[in-house]
Amino acid sequence: MSTVIRNGTIVTADLTYKADVLIEGGKITAIGENLTGDTQLDATGCYVMPGGIDPHTHLEMPFMGTYSADDFESGTRAALAGGTTMVVDFALPSPQQGLLDALQMWDNKSGRAHCDYSYHMAVTWWGQQVFDEMAEVVKRGITTFKHFMAYKGALMVNDDELFASFRRVGDLGGIAMVHAENGDVVAELSARLLAEGNTGPEAHAYSRPPQVEGEATNRAIMVADMAGVPLYVVHTSCEDSHEAIRRARQQGKRVWGEPLIQHLTLDDSEYFNKDWDHAARRVMSPPFRDKRNQDSLWAGLQSGSLSVVATDHCAFTTEQKRTGVDDFTKIPNGTGGLEDRMPMLWTHGVNTGRLTPNEFVAITSTNIAKILNVYPRKGAVLVGSDADLVVWDPKTEKTITAGSQQSAIDYNVFEGQKVKGLPRFTLTRGVVAVTEGKVDSREGHGEFVAREPNTQVNRALSQWKELTAPRPIERSGIPATGV
Ligand code: URP
Ligand code: ZN
Ligand code: ZN
Ligand code: ZN
Repeated sequence: MSTVIRNGTIVTADLTYKADVLIEGGKITAIGENLTGDTQLDATGCYVMPGGIDPHTHLEMPFMGTYSADDFESGTRAALAGGTTMVVDFALPSPQQGLLDALQMWDNKSGRAHCDYSYHMAVTWWGQQVFDEMAEVVKRGITTFKHFMAYKGALMVNDDELFASFRRVGDLGGIAMVHAENGDVVAELSARLLAEGNTGPEAHAYSRPPQVEGEATNRAIMVADMAGVPLYVVHTSCEDSHEAIRRARQQGKRVWGEPLIQHLTLDDSEYFNKDWDHAARRVMSPPFRDKRNQDSLWAGLQSGSLSVVATDHCAFTTEQKRTGVDDFTKIPNGTGGLEDRMPMLWTHGVNTGRLTPNEFVAITSTNIAKILNVYPRKGAVLVGSDADLVVWDPKTEKTITAGSQQSAIDYNVFEGQKVKGLPRFTLTRGVVAVTEGKVDSREGHGEFVAREPNTQVNRALSQWKELTAPRPIERSGIPATGV
């Protein structure tokens, strides 16, 4: 059975042109004019783009005494509905749990995925077992290791652990990732705020000002540089963090920054809403920021100092959020976004002229496919690539509302937002999963995508570090000791 996408305009990270796309066996087998196939999909008036890749999700994750509500089933269904065809989820060992054990837990959950997926591994504690198992994790196709510089007493690692782990990641040809917030300062500020009677969700934002993120981002960049490992900074939310990343990139350091669609389009006024539920539903780390940070993030995407837009999809129901009704530090941290990332970014990026359609493809798919070493299997419209495609209709509109979303939770942080630009079709490895808003995907269709270490960036950085490594000075005359 073959499928042909006809009469569309192909939009990739670097090209825009009219052509049909032929799909056979889940792969793109021809691109050209007047192609025919058993099934025809009409893309008249649409852009044919690589499906989105969301490199930052937490599906059914044990966190803050509960589990995030969207699992691989509902989460990947939501992804496809919004034009995203691959997610990368964080396997998260609890403190003292082995990495391979955590991987087994994630494998037990991910079999229900509707679209393809990969994992990052979190390093939540440090010891010989973690050091040893990291090699096996890389052998299994997981080359990215995330470190939490926040969540003190739970997931946080200290600087000595960070440095040791970064060095190990570098030696294994992987990429270090950080959640960059100064967890010590957050803990102090949180305790003080609570003692002063600041218990509401707005105090979550007060406890995590931009400085804690700027400081931690800069620290992570310097530690990574000393360890000789490329660094990926997740959820870059503010100018203070972006500034550190921008400076590092200008210095030639191998650093990427990942803003979230939430931080690009929502701000901290949400926390001042009189409705406790409204504010608590938006509690995530880093928190939504003062609006002026948004200009910085958009400019970063335009200029290339920021590389990828993700969601950090970690959805909790209102009931789960209410665990923190007397104490903001107990509100589970996380928001949804998987279904809305692409339409929201198109609406606020392409429709405003902040982004070109090609830049949209780069930051939703191609850049991360290259960083994660799955390009051009993913993130491309090329002969031989997986047919993970979205046929994007720039004229279709809708108003986002929880009532019609795929996500399992009872609200949506983008409720009431009008978007223009939606999938006409989403295809996962050639199978049509979404047609004009109607989801018809298959649970269990998704496959694990293994990734190879030692990307070009790894090799270049290692070569440079080797060339510039400290070396003893050869000397002819050494003075006698004790003179
Ligand atoms: O608040 C957030 N972001 N929750 C998910 C876990 C994390 O920190 O990424
Ligand atoms: Zn995080
Ligand atoms: Zn509300
Ligand atoms: Zn996250």
